[in-house]
Amino acid sequence: MRLKHKFAIFLALVVAVIALTLWRVMAVSSGILEKHYARPDNPLAVPVAGADVKDGERLAHMDGCFACHGQQLTGRVLFTGPFGTKLVAPNLTRVVRKQSDAQLATVIRYGIRPDGTTLINMPSTRFLASSDQDIAAIIAYLRTLQPLPDATPASSWGLGGRVLLAMHFFRVTAESTNTTMRGPRLTPTEPMALGRYLTQSQCAACHGRNLKGDPEESSPDLRFSLKHYSQDVFERFFTTGVGRRGHGTRVMTPLIKSQFHYLTGADVDALYRYLSLPAGAVTSMTPATAQSPHA
Ligand code: HEC
Ligand code: HEC
Repeated sequence: MRLKHKFAIFLALVVAVIALTLWRVMAVSSGILEKHYARPDNPLAVPVAGADVKDGERLAHMDGCFACHGQQLTGRVLFTGPFGTKLVAPNLTRVVRKQSDAQLATVIRYGIRPDGTTLINMPSTRFLASSDQDIAAIIAYLRTLQPLPDATPASSWGLGGRVLLAMHFFRVTAESTNTTMRGPRLTPTEPMALGRYLTQSQCAACHGRNLKGDPEESSPDLRFSLKHYSQDVFERFFTTGVGRRGHGTRVMTPLIKSQFHYLTGADVDALYRYLSLPAGAVTSMTPATAQSPHA
């Protein structure tokens, strides 16, 4: 075969491989963005009307809604990629006007929009561990907000973002939740139950469900860390971000300053008491928590 022919065949092969890859990327990413999920029947067992609005505002800070959705909740860009790719945590002051309480509870806890499609990278698994009472309070608070203009246009999925979607770079929220699961109906008040509730809804995402630490997050075993903390120093840590060594730590200190200083005094006390229990008590109490179906 002449060199010219060989080159033409090679070129045709390269073009075919590129076309196939592009087709695959579009098919996989569209499959993710357009898939419809079944919505849970009754996502909230307590009414939003009459929920504690002031507590809802505190919880929205503690749960990081402001950290991601912007200081006025009018939206924030979380990720920008090549070819017009942008992931935006949307303007909640407007979203709440368009959705019912049940729709909002479903989108927050299960990452499923009213049209059945998934959110991308919204940490709904964390809010699945929150009580119905807390979610109702957050929704009640969001309903008090004046609708404000969007701080940024909505998410958009250009080719770069679709490649990243197809490569599982983003978390497909609805895939990580389970619509048969519910959080507790009411927020516990008894210290050990409150401590267990808070560790599961606030700490487990990084320190692991069994709180033994997660190498991927470089987070330590919480019960082990607590051995180095007196109750006073623990309280100081969770109010100011100053740790046991007299200075801040890389991840916890900014997190405390933006979110965890919204924990109440009773919350911090309950966390300390719960994490100081003997090892068997903490791990044996863990699996029974959040994410169990409603009675
Ligand atoms: C780690 C960042 C992060 C945190 C924390 C977070 N969100 Fe989100 N949120 C997102 C992203 C990202 C999206 C959706 C982006 C997409 O799919 O386009 C989203 C979407 C939403 C939507 C869906 C809007 C729609 O289009 O229907 C609601 C409602 C929402 N968030 C409420 C909340 C509330 C309430 C909190 C606090 C309890 C919260 N979010 C905390 C990142 C976050
Ligand atoms: C976003 C991930 C994340 C979350 C959520 C989180 N932690 Fe941590 N935590 C870390 C990491 C990472 C470290 C290691 C030190 C650092 O980088 O701040 C740590 C360290 C600690 C330490 C040891 C600090 C020291 O002096 O070395 C304590 C105590 C602690 N966390 C308690 C908690 C409690 C209690 C919660 C829930 C209320 C929580 N953390 C939630 C990531 C997290």
